Amino acid sequence: MPGPGTNNPPRPADSYFTAAELIEDAFNRMNESVWGYVAGGAESETSKRRNRDALDSWAFRARILRRVDKVETSSTLLGSKLRIPVLFAPMGSMDVFVDGGGAAGVEAACRFGTLPILSSVTPPGIEATAKSHPGDKWFQLYIRGDDAWIFDMVRQVRQAGYKALLLTVDTAVYSIRERQIAQRWLPPTKRGDQGPEYQAMFDWDTAARIKDMAGIPVFLKGIQTAEDAEISMQRGFDAIYVSNHGGRQLDHSLGTLDILPEIVEAAKGRVPVIVDGAVSRGSDVVKALALGASAVGVGRLQAYALAAAGVEGGMRLLEIFEKEIVTTMALLGARSLGELNASLLRAVPPPSNPDGPFPHLPAHIRL
Ligand SMILES: Cc1cc2nc3c(=O)[nH]c(=O)nc-3n(C[C@H](O)[C@H](O)[C@H](O)COP(=O)(O)O)c2cc1C
Repeated sequence: MPGPGTNNPPRPADSYFTAAELIEDAFNRMNESVWGYVAGGAESETSKRRNRDALDSWAFRARILRRVDKVETSSTLLGSKLRIPVLFAPMGSMDVFVDGGGAAGVEAACRFGTLPILSSVTPPGIEATAKSHPGDKWFQLYIRGDDAWIFDMVRQVRQAGYKALLLTVDTAVYSIRERQIAQRWLPPTKRGDQGPEYQAMFDWDTAARIKDMAGIPVFLKGIQTAEDAEISMQRGFDAIYVSNHGGRQLDHSLGTLDILPEIVEAAKGRVPVIVDGAVSRGSDVVKALALGASAVGVGRLQAYALAAAGVEGGMRLLEIFEKEIVTTMALLGARSLGELNASLLRAVPPPSNPDGPFPHLPAHIRL
């Protein structure tokens, strides 16, 4: 069902043919504060813009005559099967834009056949969300308490059957988000925020203790340098998640696709690398995989799809991604994800597309 704050009747999900149509509908259903929360970034929003620019700074080198009548988009990541290599990234306070909050995103991804990542700061919580669908799902934790608090959270996550635990490491402090400040608005989970000091005190030793106690794969979300990727592998973390939080935390970061190559080089195939940031189209997914990622995360677009048309909207977004991935791969001459590699790309000067990924959207909504 469409997000809270609207009385418009829902549209059938199959009436949306592009992600832009979902975004425009989400814009019309969200009030200004909620739109600002989802769409906004930190300070000047340079990191957010760079994420897009980095994706637009690669052009394809298409290969021809390769019999692409069958294109395979499925893969396996840490033991979970993915119909497409697109994950639903964790988002806090999802109840402000979709009924059911985090459970709606989890249900959409699971029903489609990919992995959702539930944020620890969105209702309805660890157990209720796990019950929304039996499919594989991951959990993302912000540290909000002492070792006893952490231990209890990790126990609940494991008991509820989540297959992996992500620790977000780009949020030592909450950034300065000027769209939210302009609205004098904070997401519900930030109002009377409990224990932000624990996130600021979070360090490698605490992360390693969590890894030791978890009993499921654990890794860090928000790695931005080869140096930290190397430490994370030496400490035994099971994957690397490259992210700058969608440009919502440290302003003036590199775009994540500009970071990805150094991380992939450092990883040397030892652990899977996941990346997110401005992924909006199948071509973006294909570029990230060609540069060595195993999967990508999608944040804001997931929010827009859920806000527009609830669980069905989330599934529709993934169907649109699937069609775009297959089309891009076929035109590129790649029959499976394993055939994607850097020889299919060439770096071009940014920003090649000032109108963003959806040039047909009205100018005030463009991402
Ligand atoms: C509304 C919103 C809330 C978010 N909340 C969280 C969160 O609770 N935990 C987290 O690790 N990342 C959070 N993120 C970051 C996303 O997981 C992801 O890294 C980012 O959105 C990717 O960029 P994109 O939005 O351009 O796809 C949030 C992002 C958005 C848009």
